[in-house]
Amino acid sequence: MGKKAIGIDIGGTGIKGALVDVKSGKLLTDRIRVGTPDGGRPDDMVAVVRAIIQELRVDKSTPVGICFPAVVQHGVTKSAANISSEWINYDADAHFTKSLKRKVHMLNDADAAGFAEAKFGAARNQKGLTILTTLGTGIGAALLYNGTLIPNSELGHLTLNGQDAEKLAAFSAKEREGLSWEDWAVRLQAYYSLLEDLFVPDLFIVGGGVSKEHELFLPLLKLKTPIVPAELKNAAGIIGAATLAVKDA
Ligand code: BGC
Repeated sequence: MGKKAIGIDIGGTGIKGALVDVKSGKLLTDRIRVGTPDGGRPDDMVAVVRAIIQELRVDKSTPVGICFPAVVQHGVTKSAANISSEWINYDADAHFTKSLKRKVHMLNDADAAGFAEAKFGAARNQKGLTILTTLGTGIGAALLYNGTLIPNSELGHLTLNGQDAEKLAAFSAKEREGLSWEDWAVRLQAYYSLLEDLFVPDLFIVGGGVSKEHELFLPLLKLKTPIVPAELKNAAGIIGAATLAVKDA
């Protein structure tokens, strides 16, 4: 068995964590999931993360990686599209490290998923530019060039038809507006065409919970770039956060 680390994936609706073998990318425990506290405020989130780490019963030397639905630059959270605005310019790394009494490594959630897919999933050995997008409450994005992550790309906030792209094309838009798969696919077509025009990628990977149902919408898209579902499903963020925590330890 390789080295172990905890990965925590903080989302707008749930906070998930597990112990990961970072050599194989396999989960060593069940995924623990706790609902995100109402309001998504820092202290309440830290309390949930602490409880998950306690439940995993690991010693203090086990690295902890935490991925988060916002820009994270050098450990500081810089944006808050679907969480409390208290996270804007918040030294999350220092705060989590102090409150949990252990070193943590913080990063963006889509970046964690992208890194995991490059190491263990759909972008393994992929050359050139890969763009991973997560379709959930928002749209997360990770840019990978020859397997190297370029962090905080935030492509969910490009302007599409005069609106913030994630408001129009995230999975939450489909649910909120009761769109059929076909109607949602029209918006995805516009979104991925825009990404294609701007970046000319070699591969798109689609993650987020809805990627389980990829057969219902990916075949409806007509793109020049191959587009495939993520392979690591809902564990990608956990695996990427844990793996990068070790790299960083
Ligand atoms: C945030 C990103 C995040 C994405 C998915 C967006 O609203 O700006 O940082 O990766 O949602 O959670």
